[in-house]
Amino acid sequence: MWLFITSLVITSFICNSPAYAYDNNPLQDICVAVNNSHASVFVNGKICKDPKLATPNDFYFSSLNFSRDVYPKYGIAVTIVGVKEMPGLNTLGISTSRADIEPQSLFPFHMHPRATELITVLEGTLYVGFLVPDPVNFFKSRLFSKILNPGDVFVFPIGLIHFLYNVGHKKAVVFGSYNSQNPGLITIPSSIFASEPPIMDDILAKSFQLNKTEIAQLRNKFS
Ligand SMILES: *[C@@H]1O[C@H](CO)[C@@H](O)[C@H](O)[C@H]1NC(C)=O
Ligand SMILES: *[C@@H]1O[C@H](CO)[C@@H](O)[C@H](O)[C@H]1NC(C)=O
Ligand SMILES: *[C@@H]1O[C@H](CO)[C@@H](O)[C@H](O)[C@H]1NC(C)=O
Repeated sequence: MWLFITSLVITSFICNSPAYAYDNNPLQDICVAVNNSHASVFVNGKICKDPKLATPNDFYFSSLNFSRDVYPKYGIAVTIVGVKEMPGLNTLGISTSRADIEPQSLFPFHMHPRATELITVLEGTLYVGFLVPDPVNFFKSRLFSKILNPGDVFVFPIGLIHFLYNVGHKKAVVFGSYNSQNPGLITIPSSIFASEPPIMDDILAKSFQLNKTEIAQLRNKFS
């Protein structure tokens, strides 16, 4: 009987304390260890302000009511409201964004390494999709895509490559929510073709089954 009660207590303790069992997920792209105890970034987020000094503005962000400047090459504008922009988000595991996409413009293939993204369309018509790796052949994937109109909600699962294409004749406005205070953003084409230092032509040519002339052309487009 005592053995039973003891194991019940131990089991419930373990089940209620999953956080003790393994490391936290990273909250930033890289975090190189240093020996300096005055270094200011912690693996579990930013250093906390003295709670007595916190103000309402720490938990506030205005100006999602207009578009930022459009990146001319892509015809898109993005505002991210994460822990950098809104310090009160620290350790809360949530953030938001606004994207403005011009007619016939594409928010190219990208992914968020630390968050699932839930989007809500406010204006416009978008063709959106994400790619799920094929479990039996990692050289293939499955596309999940949808046409979205105002009021429609769609989800891009954490870490999966996705895109948003404005197929309408007016600007599209999309709000995103992320289950991370710092979701991260990796834009696939430009991170590959505009890396610093550049990736060797041979590697790009073999990866994309193209010749070096074609690789040079792609590099020029992204540089
Ligand atoms: C960090 O400090 C430890 C203990 O003082 C030392 O053994 C180690 O070499 C240091 N590491 C670096 C990268 O300086
Ligand atoms: C956006 O909202 C801010 C304050 O909340 C206001 O000052 C600003 O004029 C608004 N901008 C536009 C373009 O509506
Ligand atoms: C590279 O590929 C393009 C398009 O397939 C072709 O026109 C060109 O001749 C090729 N260049 C070389 C150097 O093989």
